[in-house]
Amino acid sequence: MKDKISTNREGQVESMRSYYAFQAKIYDATRWTFLYGRNTVLKHIPFPADASIKILEVGCGTGVNLRKLGQMFPNAELYGLDVSGDMLTQAEKNLSDYEDRLTLLEEPYEKGNKYNGEFDVILFSYALTMINPQWQELLDQAPHDLTEQGVVVVVDFHKANVETYRKFMRSNHVRLDGQLVPYLIDNFDTKYCKIKPGLVGVWDYMMFVGKKK
Ligand SMILES: C[S@@+](CC[C@H](N)C(=O)[O-])C[C@H]1O[C@@H](n2cnc3c(N)ncnc32)[C@H](O)[C@@H]1O
Repeated sequence: MKDKISTNREGQVESMRSYYAFQAKIYDATRWTFLYGRNTVLKHIPFPADASIKILEVGCGTGVNLRKLGQMFPNAELYGLDVSGDMLTQAEKNLSDYEDRLTLLEEPYEKGNKYNGEFDVILFSYALTMINPQWQELLDQAPHDLTEQGVVVVVDFHKANVETYRKFMRSNHVRLDGQLVPYLIDNFDTKYCKIKPGLVGVWDYMMFVGKKK
């Protein structure tokens, strides 16, 4: 199994575009079987259902979470960023009901002053373990783009308990090294944090909601 974890930003973005050119077609039919915790973590977002909030999902993929968030928060403005145009094409179809309050952008999330305290929620769902090596940089950027009461929400793989699975996931661009949870706890004020076993304990997944410190 060839290790496909990227070591630079340009390589990371290019490898995602080519990986998801095909995967976008089968994504919605397959990923619900192993991307656990997505619906659960959204229930821990600490805003009332009628709040007029702005939500950004980094690596929104086919829009599964934005669709759910659109139902949970009917007054929310929804933003999705992704580097894969193929995933965003699927997202446009899945989110056609939300056209009037939806912005989808084909670009990476990066360090800088583009958003400046604009979002109440920034969600990373099964994206950070694929954003190598720059995942910490993205988490460091999030507080700058959150409102004072804003929260970062993360759901992702935690770590592999079986070495062959860790290698298999690395050949699919995913890092399972358990680094997300300690980094989040150190850098955000924890409101919700759980690590749970995935399929028969082969891997663990994590869920986190935190306010900026
Ligand atoms: C496993 S999918 C998760 C999609 C969605 N968040 C979900 O939970 O179903 C990872 C997504 O992150 C996107 N992605 C990877 N690197 C990215 C980056 N640097 N900036 C923005 N999106 C990225 C990929 O193109 C892909 O759509």
